Amino acid sequence: MEAALKAETTILSGKPIAERVLSTVRQETADLIAKTGVQPGIAVVIAGTDPASQLYVRSKGKRAIECGFKSVEHKLDETVSEEELMALLHTLNADPSIHGILVQLPLPSHINEARIIQEIDPAKDVDGFHLINVGKLTTGMTETAAIPCTPAGCMILIEEVIGKDLSGKSAVVIGRSNIVGKPMASLLLQANATVTIAHSRTKDLPSVCRQADILVAAVGRPEMVKANWIKPGAIVIDVGINRVANPPGSEKPHRIVGDVDFEDCKDVASAITPVPGGVGVMTIALLMANTLKAAKIAAGK
Ligand code: GUN
Repeated sequence: MEAALKAETTILSGKPIAERVLSTVRQETADLIAKTGVQPGIAVVIAGTDPASQLYVRSKGKRAIECGFKSVEHKLDETVSEEELMALLHTLNADPSIHGILVQLPLPSHINEARIIQEIDPAKDVDGFHLINVGKLTTGMTETAAIPCTPAGCMILIEEVIGKDLSGKSAVVIGRSNIVGKPMASLLLQANATVTIAHSRTKDLPSVCRQADILVAAVGRPEMVKANWIKPGAIVIDVGINRVANPPGSEKPHRIVGDVDFEDCKDVASAITPVPGGVGVMTIALLMANTLKAAKIAAGK
């Protein structure tokens, strides 16, 4: 008997999709400047010297310039006080040339992150972390809300494969962070999926994940998700960016892997994002889209 042939797995590369988003942002930015004189402006605030955070901040600045934005960076010392950070945010809130403010997380441990996020003007909160934006997202007021960039990027990737309406689909999100897990679940729910949020206290995580037509992994555990966690034909979105040591004698000491064991899972899924080159590139593209949206709203468009 002939073996049933499995359809080819789609490797969901974020690069061409992010480029499409960025190209629209560039075009609409040029239009906004031509019609209103308003140039979108973004301010990125970073405290301390974490190399990964510094790398993200540099690439955000580079992308902003490419989009035609004004881009400013505020590099603060690791020892900055909560009051100093708040004073800077108040200045940026009042600056009409700045439409988007992003405070790079994590902040140094002596600073209360939740308190700092609430000081950002919700209209300039391009991360979508302020309570006003969280509330707008969970209640479906998405027209004027800033949607957190990583989950918004994941939704575009999912849409590429099965479209906007997820009616009848079962989605499992592994991870319950405010940055990814919770907003991701809200977006999937809004798209009519039946959503489960799984986390470190979930009983029998593999069998919960095996129910998923759409599996989103955002836990920060290198290559945790294995082939037997995946329903055959599922869409697998890997948000993890984990730096792991290579075996001694390798060309490079470290490599970047996701939360999903890509090689193990790629033949079970119908579509899967690679790491790097999957979700990560979408996040920055969506940050640019959020900044443009904030500038348009400020310009009355
Ligand atoms: N650190 C890791 N991801 C993010 C993000 O999306 N926004 C901010 N502000 N900090 C981060």
